[in-house]
Amino acid sequence: MNTGYNSLHNKIAIVTGAGSGVGRAIALKLAELKIHVCMLDISKEKMEETSGIISRAGNNSDCFLCDVSNEEDVSTVFDKIEKMGEIYSAVNNAGIAPQESYSIADAPVELWDRIMEINVKGYFLVTKYAEKYFIRKSGMSENKRYGQGSIVYVCSNSGIFGSKKNIYGISNASRICMMRQAALEMGDYGVRANAVIPGDILEGSGIWDEKYLAQRASAKGLSIEETKKYYETRAPLGMKATAEQVAKIVAALIPAGGIFENTTGQIIRCDGGQIMM
Ligand SMILES: NC(=O)c1ccc[n+]([C@@H]2O[C@H](COP(=O)([O-])OP(=O)(O)OC[C@H]3O[C@@H](n4cnc5c(N)ncnc54)[C@H](O)[C@@H]3O)[C@@H](O)[C@H]2O)c1
Repeated sequence: MNTGYNSLHNKIAIVTGAGSGVGRAIALKLAELKIHVCMLDISKEKMEETSGIISRAGNNSDCFLCDVSNEEDVSTVFDKIEKMGEIYSAVNNAGIAPQESYSIADAPVELWDRIMEINVKGYFLVTKYAEKYFIRKSGMSENKRYGQGSIVYVCSNSGIFGSKKNIYGISNASRICMMRQAALEMGDYGVRANAVIPGDILEGSGIWDEKYLAQRASAKGLSIEETKKYYETRAPLGMKATAEQVAKIVAALIPAGGIFENTTGQIIRCDGGQIMM
C-alpha cells in the first residue's frame, strides 16, 4: 500500500497547539514520519517540551510562539516558515473549552468572545494563510494546481449534536463548517481539507484539568473517579480515547498519495462509535 509518506520527508507540517494533549501527539507522530514539524503555540515552555521529545528521537521540529487568534502573529509565522521549505500541511488544533457550563441566556459575552477568538478565529486565520500559500504555489506550477497539501481540523462531536450549556459546541460547529468551505475552495488546487473528531481525551489534555473534571463530576452527581470512568467508557467500543489515536488519523490524512488521497470535506471519527451517521 502506498502510504505516501516517503514524499513527505523534510516537508513542513504546521501544527497549532502542539505544546500539549492532542497537538503534541500529532507533532510527535508527524516527526516520527520524518516530516519537519513547525509548532505554533502560546506556551513556549510546553512547545519546547514537545520539541525536546522530538529531538531526542532524532527528528526535526521548530517552535514558533504564536497566538493563533492574532493575525499579525499568524501572518509573520507563515512568512518565516515559508522561507524554511515547502509547507505540505496545516493542522488546526489549538483550542480552549470553558471551565464552566453556561446556557446561552447566562453566558458572559467575554467568555463567548474568548472561545470564538481562539477556537474559530484561530482556525480561520491558519486556514486563511494556508489557503493563500497553497493558491500561490498553485500559480507557480505548470497546470496551476499544487496537487498536494492538506488542511486538517481537529473538531469535536459537540459541533454536531446540540447540547445544553455548551458554547464550546457552537465554536466546533463553526470549525466543521469552515473545513467544508476550505475543501470546496481548495479542490481546484488539489488541496484537501478534512476534520478529525476524537472521543473524550482526558489524559494529557489541558482542557480536562482538575477544575473542568470537578465541574463535570458535580453536574453528573458522580465522584471524580466515576466521572473519568464514565467519559472513558461511554462510547459503544468502551475504549479509552487517546491523543495518539487522533495523531494516527491526522498522519494518514496528510500525504497526497495516501489512503485518503481522494477524500476531502469529510469528518473522520475516532470516538469509539459515540456518534454514528
Ligand atoms: N481533549 C478532548 O477530549 C477533545 C475532544 C474533542 C476535540 N478536542 C479539540 O482538540 C484540540 C486540543 O485539545 P487538547 O485536549 O489537546 O487541549 P490542550 O489544552 O491539552 O492543548 C491545547 C494547546 O493549545 C494551545 N493554545 C491555546 N490557545 C492558543 C492560542 N490562542 N494560540 C496558540 N496556541 C494556543 C495551548 O497552549 C495548548 O498547548 C482543541 O481544539 C479541542 O477543541 C479535544
